[in-house]
Amino acid sequence: VPIAVAASVARIRADVAAEREQGRRVALVPTMGALHEGHLALVSRALEIADAAVVSIFVNPLQFGAGEDLEAYPRTPDEDLAMLEAMGVRSVFMPPVSELYPHGDIETRISAGEAGAVFEGAARPGHFDGMLTVVAKLFNTVQPQVALFGQKDAQQLFLVRRMVRDLDIPVAIESVPIVRQDDGLALSSRNRYLSPGERRSALALPHALDAVAASASEGAEAALAAGREIVAGEPLVDLDYLAIVDPATFRAVGTGFRGQALAVVAAKVGGTRLIDNQAVVL
Ligand code: PAF
Repeated sequence: VPIAVAASVARIRADVAAEREQGRRVALVPTMGALHEGHLALVSRALEIADAAVVSIFVNPLQFGAGEDLEAYPRTPDEDLAMLEAMGVRSVFMPPVSELYPHGDIETRISAGEAGAVFEGAARPGHFDGMLTVVAKLFNTVQPQVALFGQKDAQQLFLVRRMVRDLDIPVAIESVPIVRQDDGLALSSRNRYLSPGERRSALALPHALDAVAASASEGAEAALAAGREIVAGEPLVDLDYLAIVDPATFRAVGTGFRGQALAVVAAKVGGTRLIDNQAVVL
């Protein structure tokens, strides 16, 4: 079956309704395109747990701030569609901006609240409101039974789960582990911005997380100090934050915290902002 590319809300709704009438369970994989192995891991999990996978490709202007890389964000639709077709995806939702935002901007927004204003949200004001708003629109458009998100965007995943719970959206959220290159760098569409030197320096992010995990039994302060030392040795890496958060709240853990936590890191490498995270046990 050739891949069907829907550009309109009406078209994707009709395509998904046809799948549902056959009694098929539909999974949505929301993406901004420029697909890499990390996205493909989401797609292959979607094909495992559902009967039909819809992949959306939409670079959402609402989640980019002024001065961010909206215009420069990589767009590779032909390669994306070829990869998805090769994986057996039959349905792609690739609307133009005018389809999801026909009146230009929209005034109604989902608020990500306090947990959306820290870490990535502090560095990128409005980013998570814009992200949640488009994810809600995609859920309403496609109406999937399950939607898949990568663990690389840990704060995004946390906020999407909380939105679904808070707003009673009838969709199950499934997460998929980070896909890394052999040397440990987490895959990201933005890695293609890195020069060879920056690419080497970017390894400070996974290395810092490894150092945090290795010292976690000594407590959060000592673990974070070990991680910061790694980053400090890399002049091309400008650290934004390295923190350990409670996965239940996405707040930095207090001194007495024990148990499963998440080390999160963000840094600019050259002009490129990268994020990564790793589970740690305190
Ligand atoms: O993670 C992404 O690629 C985007 O934030 C998402 C979930 C597709 C919403 O635009």
